[in-house]
Amino acid sequence: MARRPLIAGNWKMNGLTADGVALATALAARIRENPPAADLLVCPPATLVDRVARAVEGSGLAVGGQDCHGERSGAHTGDIAAAMLKDLGAGYVIVGHSERRTDHGETSAQVRAKAAAAHAAGLVAIVCLGETEAERDGGRTLAVVEAQFGGSLPEGATPENTVIAYEPVWAIGTGRTPTTAEVAEVHRTIRDLAEKALGSAAAARLRILYGGSMKPSNAKELLALTDVDGGLIGGASLKAEDFWAIAESAR
Ligand code: PGA
Repeated sequence: MARRPLIAGNWKMNGLTADGVALATALAARIRENPPAADLLVCPPATLVDRVARAVEGSGLAVGGQDCHGERSGAHTGDIAAAMLKDLGAGYVIVGHSERRTDHGETSAQVRAKAAAAHAAGLVAIVCLGETEAERDGGRTLAVVEAQFGGSLPEGATPENTVIAYEPVWAIGTGRTPTTAEVAEVHRTIRDLAEKALGSAAAARLRILYGGSMKPSNAKELLALTDVDGGLIGGASLKAEDFWAIAESAR
């Protein structure tokens, strides 16, 4: 089953206008010169979605948000609705990133509401899952991933409106990654869970990304794994050179 890889950059809380526009413009120029074999996406801070979307319009580089609220509108000071991201030119939104689950205490039920809100607004939801180091050491990785998958995926999820990102919490920003066998095992498990939840035809089309210290030097072996359909890249997405090198590693 040919799934077109998705290489997604999560800029996190980094960048002012000049940096963000320059980075996105550099990537858009490379895509125009040499279209990659993968879909490319950048998720800048919400403050830059509008400027970045306008800077890369027509290049094929997609733009996404890093979070959205689970409700469509209302009294939620400081929050951003999925439709607001869509309105600025976003096509995707990350939900349930471990930094949101940890820093903001987000539960899988909230993540599910956010994914549903994203779908209602016409955005693709990138739903993040992953175990902590203690959970891995305790042999609970697959159980944690199963619980998060079951709890975070909303009704109406399809391979067109949903992407899963497996991100072991202990691999994010640490330079450490699981072995390729460990990544393959979790991705296979997620594919099996998707088969049960969505049916086998849909599961075969679902893109499952790996995230956590993916960089040019390890991207090729990770992206070559059967059930790894792209990457969610933090640190290495802040340099056009590195992000591009990862995109070029996608099959
Ligand atoms: P990292 O972050 O690539 O810096 O480890 C990945 C992520 O948090 O999405």
